[in-house]
Amino acid sequence: MKHILLGVSGGIAAYKAAELVRLFRKQGCEVRVVMTESAMQFISPLTFQALSGNPVHTELLNADAENAMSHINLARWADVLLIAPATANTLAKCSYGLADDLLSTLYLAAQCPVYVAPAMNQAMWHKTVTQDNIAKLKAHGVTVINPESGEQACGETGLGRMAEPATICQQLLAEPVVRCLQGLHVLISAGPTREPLDPVRYITNRSSGKMGYALAKAAVNAGAQVTLVSGSVSLAAPDSVDVVRVETAAEMYEAVMANAQSCDMYIGAAAVADYSPIVAEAQKIKKHASQTTIILQKTQDILAAVAGLASPPFTVGFAAETHNLEVYAQKKLHEKHLDMIAANWVGREKGGFDSEQNALQVFWKTGQKTLVMMDKIQLAEQLVLLCAEKFNEKNTT
Ligand SMILES: Cc1cc2nc3c(=O)[nH]c(=O)nc-3n(C[C@H](O)[C@H](O)[C@H](O)COP(=O)(O)O)c2cc1C
Repeated sequence: MKHILLGVSGGIAAYKAAELVRLFRKQGCEVRVVMTESAMQFISPLTFQALSGNPVHTELLNADAENAMSHINLARWADVLLIAPATANTLAKCSYGLADDLLSTLYLAAQCPVYVAPAMNQAMWHKTVTQDNIAKLKAHGVTVINPESGEQACGETGLGRMAEPATICQQLLAEPVVRCLQGLHVLISAGPTREPLDPVRYITNRSSGKMGYALAKAAVNAGAQVTLVSGSVSLAAPDSVDVVRVETAAEMYEAVMANAQSCDMYIGAAAVADYSPIVAEAQKIKKHASQTTIILQKTQDILAAVAGLASPPFTVGFAAETHNLEVYAQKKLHEKHLDMIAANWVGREKGGFDSEQNALQVFWKTGQKTLVMMDKIQLAEQLVLLCAEKFNEKNTT
């Protein structure tokens, strides 16, 4: 029986959490409810007690012997923690690691998967600081069940209504993530490189690192030990990932090669510069001539170097193309002796660099698969499954 710990925070949608408890119980789950002080202004603990069949937890600092350690005991008991509705306030507290009430302390103590279902006025939802908090929580491994658009209790219309209880229930009770990479060491490179011209300028590209970071999270969830070699990005690394931070293509080469011998799988999702300036000036280049020239030299090919090792890991490359996607991807797969290549279009309206979504055309020696346009988090989960499948095929034949 699945143990669901439901955190209810103080928003209008708190009444919908009662329906959630009913749905989970109908599916055979045991539910325990934790309410914030504000939540109790919207709905009575008695409702949750009656629906869950368990006492409702509301206080952190309670000297009562059983309750004194309830944040730890409840966290240990839970198979999953769901915060629904999650107010802007509670989301902010979780993203910053504040722990001044039972629910936020529980979030910190929880080692199980965490889901949040935000619910708030559309302006609160769109506020940059709320979106930053959401991005941070996602990067910390929290699954965000996105709010829906529609008429709001405040009379406004827009995005911010809590997802319907049936949708939340379905998402939580969906098949658990397959531990398809259990026991494997997976090396992932992500983000752009920066090639310095002088102490203040560099050549870089539009990669945000989102795909590589999503892959790192998906690989951890699939049971892998993950090393992430990351170029400069503004993303927080997923929990349980060893991060090696680099800046230039040469540094990325060194960091990847230092780990490539000992890993089982390498996924090269970084956008590595093909060329870097021959000279990085020690002093800032001054503006004199009306034209100037920068001489570039080829950087080392990391993917080819990993795939060319005496006993290479299962090597997966990425190809970002503006035209002839399939031809270039197949060429790269064969010429660099890769096991797999995931190709995506860039420069189009949807997907590609710095987008939340992407689509991939994945090729291996004997086949290909299309992964349609979706959130990069889900796309990464699907790609990790495919990598594991092809890894197993290679290592059993
Ligand atoms: C009538 C009313 C409705 C509210 N609805 C929401 C809401 O839907 N979402 C939200 O983030 N905050 C909402 N708030 C504000 C929160 O109740 C407030 O930020 C509170 O501090 C949240 O505390 P908690 O996160 O500890 O539950 C509402 C406030 C009032 C008075």
